[in-house]
Amino acid sequence: MRYPLEPDHEEMHLLAEDVMERTIAFVDSLADHPASLAGMPEEAIRDLQRRLLAPPPEGPQDLRDLLGRIEEASAAAVESAGPSYLAYIPGGGVFAGALADFYARATNRYVGMAATAPGLVALEWSVVCWLADVVGMPPQGGGLLVSGGSIANFAAVVAARERLGEQLWDGTVYLTEEAHQSVGKAVRLAGLPRRALRTVPCTKDLRMDVQALRDMLAQDRQEGRRPFMLVASAGTTNTGVVDPLPELAALAQREELWFHVDAAYGGFFLLTDRGRRILDGIDRADSVTLDPHKSLFAPYGTGALVVRDLAALRAAHAVSGHYLQDLDEHEVPDFADLGPELTRELRGLRIWLPLHLYGVAAFRAALDEKLDLAQHAYRRLAAEPSLDLPWPPALSIVGVRVRAEDPEVADRRTRAVLERVNLGRRVFLSSTIVEGRFTLRLAILAHRSHLSRVDEAVDAIIAAARTVAGA
Ligand SMILES: Cc1ncc(COP(=O)(O)O)c(C=O)c1O
Repeated sequence: MRYPLEPDHEEMHLLAEDVMERTIAFVDSLADHPASLAGMPEEAIRDLQRRLLAPPPEGPQDLRDLLGRIEEASAAAVESAGPSYLAYIPGGGVFAGALADFYARATNRYVGMAATAPGLVALEWSVVCWLADVVGMPPQGGGLLVSGGSIANFAAVVAARERLGEQLWDGTVYLTEEAHQSVGKAVRLAGLPRRALRTVPCTKDLRMDVQALRDMLAQDRQEGRRPFMLVASAGTTNTGVVDPLPELAALAQREELWFHVDAAYGGFFLLTDRGRRILDGIDRADSVTLDPHKSLFAPYGTGALVVRDLAALRAAHAVSGHYLQDLDEHEVPDFADLGPELTRELRGLRIWLPLHLYGVAAFRAALDEKLDLAQHAYRRLAAEPSLDLPWPPALSIVGVRVRAEDPEVADRRTRAVLERVNLGRRVFLSSTIVEGRFTLRLAILAHRSHLSRVDEAVDAIIAAARTVAGA
C-alpha cells in the first residue's frame, strides 16, 4: 500500500532538494531584486491574483510546476527580505532561522505543555530566559514567545488587567499618540471600553510628558477612574524615539501602575553599549514587548513578552482541563499557562539556532552597524540644503522633509520625493505624519542592509529633493 501523504526516503530527498535549491537561489539574488511593486500595472497584479486563487485539484500535480507558481506569487511583492527594505519597521529572516523552522515543522513536536516535549520546551525556555536577562528582569521573571509585537502587547494588557479584578469599565491606560496602534487595539481586545485609553501629550522631542501624565492621573482619580497601566515606547514606530523610562518607571511605582514598555522595534539595541544607555530604565518595567522578527532578525511570526514576575502572567492565563490530567509538572513552565494558545508552534528554535550558531556578538555587531548607518545617513542628509531633518535619530530611524517656507509645499514636495525614490525600485521607503507634517522615514534595521545600500537611498533622496525643489 502506498500512502501519498507519506513520501519515502528518496522522494523526501527529491522534494527537499528542489525546495532547498530554489530557496538558496532566492537568497543569493536578493540584492538584485526590485525593492517594490512601484510602477507595476495594477491589472498585472490582479491577473496574477486571479490565477492564484484556483482551488486545489482532485489529483496530484508536479512539484516543480507548483514551486514555479509559488515563486511567481512570491516575486510580486515588496522585497522585505533584502537590503532595499528601509520602510516601516524592517524585518529579518536569517537563513539559519528558516532551517530551524523547517526542522521544527517536520518534527512537529507538541510544545504547549512541558510534559510532551520537555527537552524542546527547555530549549525554548532558555531563549525566553535569555531575553528576560537582556532586559534585566529579576530571577522570578520570565515570559513567552508569541507571534509578534501586537500579541505581546495584548498579553501584557491581559496580565495588567488582573489589577482591576472583575470590574473593567472604570480602568484607564496611559500612552502617547506616538505609541504603536497595537496597544490601543490590545486594550479594546482585552474588553476595556474605548474611554479606557488616555492619551498623554508629548514634549517637543516627541517623548511622553511626565508632568502632563502626573496631572492626568490626579484628575482621573479625582473623577473616580482607576488608572492601572502605563505604556511607554522604547523606540516608537514613527521616529524611533524612546520615552523617558526612568522617570516613568518611578511614577508608575508611586502610582501603583503596571508599567509596560513596548520595545518591539528598539528592544534588541540593548545588546549594544549605546542602546543600553538609550534604553536605561527598561529593567524597571513590569513587562516588555520585544520583537525578535524585527531587531533580532528572526523570521516573521516571532514576538516575545517578558515580565518581571512570571506568576502575574500565569495568574492571567492559566486554566485547567480534565483532559490534561495525565501531564506532570515540570521544571520549565507549560507555555499554555502563560498565553492564549494551547497548541502552539515551536518558536524558540528559530531564535536559539542562529544565536548558538553565530554567537551573540554577531547580533551585537549587526545592531551596532545599524546605529552607525543611521548616524551616517543623518549626517549626509543634514548636509543637503534642500532637506530638513527635524530630529537626530535616537536609534536607527531617520526622518526627512523637503525644506520649503510653506509647510503645505514642503509636504507636497516630500511626498513627491518618496514617490520618485520608490519608483527607482532600488530601495523602498515609507512615510508618516509627525507633528502634522508629512515626513519621509529611512528605517535601517534589516540585517542585509549595509553601507552601500544606505548610501544609494541617501543619493536617491538628495537627487529627488533637488529635482522637486527646482520644479
Ligand atoms: C513599536 C511597535 N510595537 C508593536 C508593533 C507590532 O508588532 P507586530 O507587527 O510584530 O505585531 C510594532 C510593529 O511595527 C512596533 O513598531
